[in-house]
Amino acid sequence: MADCKVYVTRRIPKPGTELLSKHFEIDSYDSDEAIPHQVLVEAMKKKRYDALYCMLTDTIDSEVLEAAGSQLKIVATMSVGYEHIDLHECATRNILVANTPGVSTDSVAELTVALLLLTSRRIAEGVEAVRNGEWGDWKPHWLCGTELTGSTLGIYGLGRIGFNVGRRLKPFGFSKIYYTDVHEVSYAKDIDAEFTDFEGLIKNCDFICVCCNLTPQTRHMFNAETFKKMKNNAILVNTGRGGVIQHDDLLEALKNGDIAAAGLDVTEPEPLDKDHPLVHQKNCVILPHMGSNTWDSRNAMAEIAARNCVAAITNQTPEGNVLT
Ligand code: DGY
Repeated sequence: MADCKVYVTRRIPKPGTELLSKHFEIDSYDSDEAIPHQVLVEAMKKKRYDALYCMLTDTIDSEVLEAAGSQLKIVATMSVGYEHIDLHECATRNILVANTPGVSTDSVAELTVALLLLTSRRIAEGVEAVRNGEWGDWKPHWLCGTELTGSTLGIYGLGRIGFNVGRRLKPFGFSKIYYTDVHEVSYAKDIDAEFTDFEGLIKNCDFICVCCNLTPQTRHMFNAETFKKMKNNAILVNTGRGGVIQHDDLLEALKNGDIAAAGLDVTEPEPLDKDHPLVHQKNCVILPHMGSNTWDSRNAMAEIAARNCVAAITNQTPEGNVLT
């Protein structure tokens, strides 16, 4: 095993490097910034790597895989999302693909709740108002938001994260929690969530949390037509993937009052330019994809991705086996 090689596309947290170094000779792109695609392709050509340890910013396409050669056993991404990896190409070449499920569930669920409160109670506007010296005498109508209590919550994607969002939000006392997913799931009863189709979700919910993956089925599900059907008081929070929402349509919906507000931790594209109109839209709060930014999550993600690489060279099934 000592002669196994891994290429790591970024500086990663210590638990990841520590584990990798016990099993691999490590080469890495020694930067906190994303590796340019061509640099990755060239790096792959230089040595015959057994494992490629990548990030969600790296497009792992046929060019990278071709350059890597047939001995590559695994593409292990230090993320839950894996839409940056060409799964078909990997399957065709018999290369394992593994992600880091589970370890960012709590961090992303916590941030989802934070975004929901931030938007429903207009907290970012409040902070801004204080900074700008706009805090004058008490006014009955100033910065009023909506309460979660007694309203309807919708969760789009009741996987690990969606469920944990529901678990955290349930004590707020929603009158009803709905969820939409590919099919009904038994654990939904633990949060008293009722299955509904997408149409039911968008028409009935005051708050919708998008917690799903980006797939051809979920891409741009929230578009002009959807926003027209949603409640005018609805607040949309997205901590899943930016591509689930059509952003030009969202901007229009926020401007013309089709929905009340949005809180986004993920956007399309990322990063969103500071001059993008959504950034300056008052009823839209945008965070820089920081759902899993806790030390606990990051260390665990780094370690799991490393464990997945080790699994591949020891003929075990990686924990986050994507191509089952
Ligand atoms: C993931 O893991 O896919 C998150 O979006 C980034 O941490």
